[in-house]
Amino acid sequence: MEFSGLIRKRRSVRAFKEREVDDSVIREIFEDINQAPSAGNLQSFVVYVVKNVKIKKMIAEAAYGQDFIVQAPIVLIFCADKKRSARKYGKRGENLYSIQDATIAAVYSILSIQDHGLSSVWVGAFDEERVSSILDLDKDIRPVAIIPFGYPDEEPEFPGRRSIEEIFKMFDGNDK
Ligand SMILES: Cc1cc2nc3c(=O)[nH]c(=O)nc-3n(C[C@H](O)[C@H](O)[C@H](O)COP(=O)(O)O)c2cc1C
Repeated sequence: MEFSGLIRKRRSVRAFKEREVDDSVIREIFEDINQAPSAGNLQSFVVYVVKNVKIKKMIAEAAYGQDFIVQAPIVLIFCADKKRSARKYGKRGENLYSIQDATIAAVYSILSIQDHGLSSVWVGAFDEERVSSILDLDKDIRPVAIIPFGYPDEEPEFPGRRSIEEIFKMFDGNDK
């Protein structure tokens, strides 16, 4: 799909069909995610892939009862690998680049998912400690985004955006 159309068509979807997603499609999405830029090309993130219903239920509980997570056939959990980035970039790598690397990869995922005729929703509201404990994460691995996806069972309306004028501020220096 052409990029401009793709980003306008994408909506957060919170209802999914029972239909499974082919492994070959999942693999293509993973290949797309793996094209994301990252600080120093270190790719300081790891993605957990959950299909197991019991684990999806635990994740949904850790996300304060967002039960559509269980409905989605696949759930991706993007985690920052703080240590990996810190080895080269110190505190900035630990506290910023690793988070950005994981976040950019998660953005790639929602776009690739859309391009494959599937839908997703970004879940940021969750108890980090509970998710870390469910996935048995090392202390240097921080979960930053949960992306459940599958075939959509709803077509949400465009929720609107702020105006271009409100967001973009021309800045040409402070010289008066
Ligand atoms: C950082 C972040 C956190 C979010 N957390 C949640 C969440 O916990 N639950 C949820 O249902 N949607 C969540 N969303 C989805 C937003 O509500 C959604 O993107 C926004 O309302 C715009 O709608 P659209 O994605 O359809 O354009 C989150 C989105 C972002 C980027």
